[in-house]
Amino acid sequence: MNIRRMVPDDLEEVLSLALAEGWVSDMCELSLILRSYPEGCSTAVSECQVVGCVMVTRYEHSAWIGNLIVDRHYRMRGVGTELLQTAMVYLDNDSTITSIYLNAAPTATRLYERFGFVTVCNVFRWKKNGISGSFSSSRNAAQLAASSSQETGMCRREDILWLDSQCWGDCRSVVLKQLIKERSCITSKDPTAFLMYYKISGMPESLYAIGPWEVENGGQEIASGLLERALSQIGDAAVVLDVPAQNDAACDVLQAAGFMVVGRTVFMCHKKVPDIRFGNVLAFLSMGSMG
Ligand SMILES: CC(C)(COP(=O)(O)OP(=O)(O)OC[C@H]1O[C@@H](n2cnc3c(N)ncnc32)[C@H](O)[C@@H]1OP(=O)(O)O)[C@@H](O)C(=O)NCCC(=O)NCCS
Repeated sequence: MNIRRMVPDDLEEVLSLALAEGWVSDMCELSLILRSYPEGCSTAVSECQVVGCVMVTRYEHSAWIGNLIVDRHYRMRGVGTELLQTAMVYLDNDSTITSIYLNAAPTATRLYERFGFVTVCNVFRWKKNGISGSFSSSRNAAQLAASSSQETGMCRREDILWLDSQCWGDCRSVVLKQLIKERSCITSKDPTAFLMYYKISGMPESLYAIGPWEVENGGQEIASGLLERALSQIGDAAVVLDVPAQNDAACDVLQAAGFMVVGRTVFMCHKKVPDIRFGNVLAFLSMGSMG
């Protein structure tokens, strides 16, 4: 078994490892991460087969570690530790990175603590199966879709980048610019709130994910309006999102819309514990893999 730099041809096997864990993962996202910081992405290979992986997304002053997976037949032999060590070496050598984040599976927190990560907060995964019975079914979907496309017609890219940087205390434009192109984006009339959603490819069920979803000053009414419009456009499909546990407004809005908590991860940080405005972050931008 050896660990080497990840190459694009590895991504099919990386995706298979993620899907075998039941993770919500998609190829567009994996490609984006690999393109954004190839030096930080590694694979463990045994007999020409990918048996483990780790990926890093690098923002201006922070980085995100995701997709740390070891094939179950190769676990508890130090492969996960070695992969994480490889990613950390790149990041520790870069003095411009002041915080390293990840969303840990509860069973993996001890592994990360050994590398100096500390718990920041819990992250709840919310899910909703279809729209029947929710507030979105009571509105005229076509009308809502039309109004949202009007409001998003002129790309509010600079507003989105600004709001996100206020929430996270960092510039994440390297990824956000791409997400704005790839995902559906709903914004409020004034530049204080947005919600993106996208269809996950390659999943057995028709599944959408919401994220990022950010609202300045946590305005519950604005947040609810964005969600309502997103659900009306998504239609009768399952929807998931990852939400910081201390965002009470998100919890209320999601419960009212018929979502339920289906899982938990632990948001952890290494180096400088961040000053993130969790009250403004209603959904992370990915399902654990890049922020
Ligand atoms: C987490 C994971 C990558 C560890 O890989 P690994 O090759 O087994 O790791 P190592 O052999 O280097 O170290 C094992 C450590 O994994 C941790 N661990 C993670 N999941 C565990 C589990 N289900 N049972 C026991 N230990 C687990 C333990 O803390 C253990 O540390 P210990 O030596 O102090 O007991 C692997 O278990 C995995 O792929 N799990 C599923 C995907 C996942 O949860 N990834 C982490 C997402 S944040």
